Amino acid sequence: MDEINVLQFAEYKRERRKITAITAYDAPFAKIMEEAGIDLVLVGDSVGMAVHGRPDTLSVTMEEMILHGRSVASAVTRPFVAVDMPYMTFQASKELAAQNAVRLVKETGAKAVKVEGGVKVASAIRAIVEAGVPVIGHAGLLPQSVHEIGGYKAQGTTAQSARVVMEDALAAEEAGAFMVVLEAIPAELGRSITGALGIPAIGIGAGPHCDGQILVMHDMLGLSTGRLPRFVKTYANLREQAVAAARKYADEVRSGAFPTDEHSYHAKNEGEGRK
Ligand code: KIV
Repeated sequence: MDEINVLQFAEYKRERRKITAITAYDAPFAKIMEEAGIDLVLVGDSVGMAVHGRPDTLSVTMEEMILHGRSVASAVTRPFVAVDMPYMTFQASKELAAQNAVRLVKETGAKAVKVEGGVKVASAIRAIVEAGVPVIGHAGLLPQSVHEIGGYKAQGTTAQSARVVMEDALAAEEAGAFMVVLEAIPAELGRSITGALGIPAIGIGAGPHCDGQILVMHDMLGLSTGRLPRFVKTYANLREQAVAAARKYADEVRSGAFPTDEHSYHAKNEGEGRK
């Protein structure tokens, strides 16, 4: 199986071949995404909410990203694996940004990192790229800035805010990013930014004109609870299926229907031998 490398994404954009991306946080689900033919698996800091049940992504640590990143990167061959840089691991100084990015790829086996922001983090992006680590930028709704922007709201909905999102995406490209994620912005703005960028733009709530799409795996598979953003499409209802399966198991344990002889061991001298 050929591994996807950083150069192929530029080729996909040139060929207008849509890039498929999804988040994953552990080996079994990463393998499922590989089997499904997903191009890019992002170990997002959304792990803090999707897996650890926290209210936001701000408390996610380097150690947590390394643990989840290593599980994903070691499980797959073909998809390109990128890991999110947690809050405050790249904002304070470009030296710290480069150090943390190198640590993330060295200790996980991922091929790239993602940083939230554009203009404000351009020097960090440049330093990470100079250290030899490919970078994905992220413009529009920046979950790590949730308190600054007053909630998980669509961005770029006014002329001035649209300019800020466009400038962030362009600044990420200018600083050396090879791809930009555009989150929760009007579809028309998604189209303009995708057209203005030489690098691929991957949308999550940025309309159909981006070079590719990404969703949070737990949302897409119906594993999340609570209200989902407008941009989510749920393709399965795994939570319902899991609850039904666990309920059936509990009923069978209570009634004695499980385990049966089929699931039991026997001593060798008891006829059938070890199962
Ligand atoms: O953390 C994450 O999962 C992300 C995606 C929403 C792009 O940044």
